[in-house]
Amino acid sequence: MKKLLALALAVVMLMSVASALAEYKVAFSQIGQESDWRTANTDSIKAAIEGHEGWELIYDDAQQKQENQIKALRNFITQGVDVILFTGVVSTGWEEVLKEVNDEEIPLILVDRMPDCMDQIEYAAAFGGDFVEEGRRQTAWAGEYLKSIGRGEEEINVVIMEGTTGADAQVGRTKGNLAGLEAYPNLKVVAQQSGNFTRAEGQALMESWLKSIDKIDVLIAQNDDMALGAIDAIKAAGKVPGKDIIIVGCDSVKAAFDAIVAGEMNATIECTPLYGPFVVNAVEKLQAGEAMSKTLVHPEEGVYDMDGGIDLGTVVSVKAADVIDERQY
Ligand code: AHR
Repeated sequence: MKKLLALALAVVMLMSVASALAEYKVAFSQIGQESDWRTANTDSIKAAIEGHEGWELIYDDAQQKQENQIKALRNFITQGVDVILFTGVVSTGWEEVLKEVNDEEIPLILVDRMPDCMDQIEYAAAFGGDFVEEGRRQTAWAGEYLKSIGRGEEEINVVIMEGTTGADAQVGRTKGNLAGLEAYPNLKVVAQQSGNFTRAEGQALMESWLKSIDKIDVLIAQNDDMALGAIDAIKAAGKVPGKDIIIVGCDSVKAAFDAIVAGEMNATIECTPLYGPFVVNAVEKLQAGEAMSKTLVHPEEGVYDMDGGIDLGTVVSVKAADVIDERQY
């Protein structure tokens, strides 16, 4: 009888240890679902965490609102999660809440957009796009392409459609766009405004530019969704996208590849959303107590266009039609 009781006790103890192990809570504060890129990013991270044995995903979609993200982070603290994955809708205003996360000693992994208080908080690892370089590649692509078709001396009017104002991706890409333009004095910026990273706002902004600006030669859209919205506006205005107006997007989503292959868009600069594997690797290291580098890791990214072969110094473009079948998102 005693033996039976001891065995039952051991089984109960093993079960509670197993259930405790099964509850490594990985919380993820996502910005919202403003673009195809964002959907692919959410899917990549969700699938990686949910597919991992012993991990539970606690997910929050902030619907593009910083106050919702702050609330979510505080809820994660109250729930006693084991690790927090965080990307901020804008780059400022996080110091207080991220310090609260630090005070509770909950490890923080920064993904995609970095907060500007990075050097004042503790974090375990950081993975995100090189937004300044992406922006530089956009305008450099336009400058080099125009040279390649014999328009390197012509006065060219450029409009820059920016992402969500104050977002790390918008701040970095704008800096890179303007730095890239310095090498091409024939390219002149005639308008610069936010389309908020969405297709609908990209379309509306292009409609208004087409009404108010006489000559637009190049559209630099800081993401593909805005470029795709702008294409609809350009067609509605009776112009030919990709020809009358040269269009350079950013992200390299499948829909942009389709537009390039259809001849309606000229190029897209890659920004990978596939952070699932990076995050899994980092959380596994955390669980194992392994040290990690605090250096911001940028994934390797390419440039895709109609014909390939445009040399941007750090990268040479690849013909989109040759690799379209490999696109996952
Ligand atoms: O932070 C990455 C950017 O956010 C992507 O370029 C854009 O599509 C997304 O909404």
